[in-house]
Amino acid sequence: MSWYSVGSLNEFTDGELKTVEVAGIQVLLVGRGEDVAAIPPMCPHLEEPLVHGMCDGRLLTCMKHLWQWELDDGSPVGAAEAPLKMYATRVVDGQVEILVEQELIYERES
Ligand code: FES
Repeated sequence: MSWYSVGSLNEFTDGELKTVEVAGIQVLLVGRGEDVAAIPPMCPHLEEPLVHGMCDGRLLTCMKHLWQWELDDGSPVGAAEAPLKMYATRVVDGQVEILVEQELIYERES
């Protein structure tokens, strides 16, 4: 596993959804004030791009069928039937970093 920088914390506004490529993998970043959540870009329901969703900084909503998740841990809320995978993130000297599992990089390359 490796940490990858995705930019300065002050580039993310609260609730903003932004897709980036990290180590060849698409990751959706969500601004949350003092940190950033990092999740896969597609909804676990029917693969709708979550970048079109809505976020208040705490809850993420997929606009297709309104599944919702807590961004603290990816747990489903209400009608959502599956959790979100969460990538570990950290802020080091004002830079946001994401921990990407090596297995995902290998999957992409194979
Ligand atoms: S595709 Fe996201 S809730 Fe159905």
